[in-house]
Amino acid sequence: MSETVAVPQNGERKKVIFSGIQPTGTFTLGNYIGALKNWVKLQDDYNCVYSVVNLHAITVRQDPAQLKKNTLSAYALLLACGIDPEKSIVFIQSHVPAHAELAWVLDCHTQFGELSRMTQFKDKSARYADNINAGLFTYPSLMAADILLYQADLVPVGADQKQHLELTRDVANRFNNLYGNTFRIPEPYIPKAEQGARIMSLQDPTKKMSKSDPNPKAFISILDKPETIVKKFRSAVTDSETEVCYREGKDGINNLMGIYSVVTGKSMDEITREFAGKGYGDFKTAVGEAVAEELRPIQERYEQLMNQKDYLEQCYRLGAEKARSISARTLQKVYKKVGFLP
Ligand code: TYM
Repeated sequence: MSETVAVPQNGERKKVIFSGIQPTGTFTLGNYIGALKNWVKLQDDYNCVYSVVNLHAITVRQDPAQLKKNTLSAYALLLACGIDPEKSIVFIQSHVPAHAELAWVLDCHTQFGELSRMTQFKDKSARYADNINAGLFTYPSLMAADILLYQADLVPVGADQKQHLELTRDVANRFNNLYGNTFRIPEPYIPKAEQGARIMSLQDPTKKMSKSDPNPKAFISILDKPETIVKKFRSAVTDSETEVCYREGKDGINNLMGIYSVVTGKSMDEITREFAGKGYGDFKTAVGEAVAEELRPIQERYEQLMNQKDYLEQCYRLGAEKARSISARTLQKVYKKVGFLP
């Protein structure tokens, strides 16, 4: 496997991408369209670093055996989606100690008030009211550490992570101002609204599609069977009109059109023309079939990979080795700047 080096070469520095995904249950169509599809696309032009962020996952109580299984499965799914461990660095967060180490330093440079304003913290502390732990609160500092360790230029995420990205930039700027230039300031890379920045629940299109939704009809898992996918789309909540068109107030149809557009490459106008005079029923079936078709090769590759545990282990060991070498350099720089004796 070739070494991907995130440092200047002949005076030119190839831009660096970092992103992460939590190994909590299977991935949804929201994860795939909002983030993973872009992760795959960016691999040819950037030095990409992708992580299964299991340290983040334990901010919510996990069953240890299940977390272990989900972590391997998440890693396999990334490769199945098209992340190529020969091109990109793909690793498991807990294999690289610099993440937790830098997170502590950043914790000490992040304000209580800033963390209190995070909507994900507010949502999750309402949902898990019996376990509002310190890690859930300081989660954004760990996420900032993930990104800043690799001096990332761009962070491909869905719209729900934008606020965390803004905090990352604020903390990085604060650190640079205090100690001199240390971190590159990362930019978010978020799809346009109609191209999947925020895929909505199929049962309540005003809510984000989420794998933790108690109603499985509300989300598509990347591993759902084709017939389940079509069934879920057929029962998607829309509105009482009949015209397939992208318009404010038609949240359910807008969501389905966004999904169909990303998967087929068709524009909103083309979709409207395709379904002119047809009902929502035909449209929903077409969306379901197109999504099932898009996911079919991923599911096949996933099944193969889960039977190649040695190969997966070889990939994540090598990924961690490369990630450790890059992240250690940034951590060392940070420790020196804050005055830790070498
Ligand atoms: P996570 O694991 O919740 O989701 C992974 C990625 O999927 C995107 N996403 C969506 N996009 C569109 N529509 C949706 N319904 C939808 N649901 C999820 C998320 O925006 C995300 O890009 N905190 C992060 C993980 C993380 C991270 C990082 C990301 C940890 N460290 C550093 C980037 C950089 C999270 O919980 O994502």
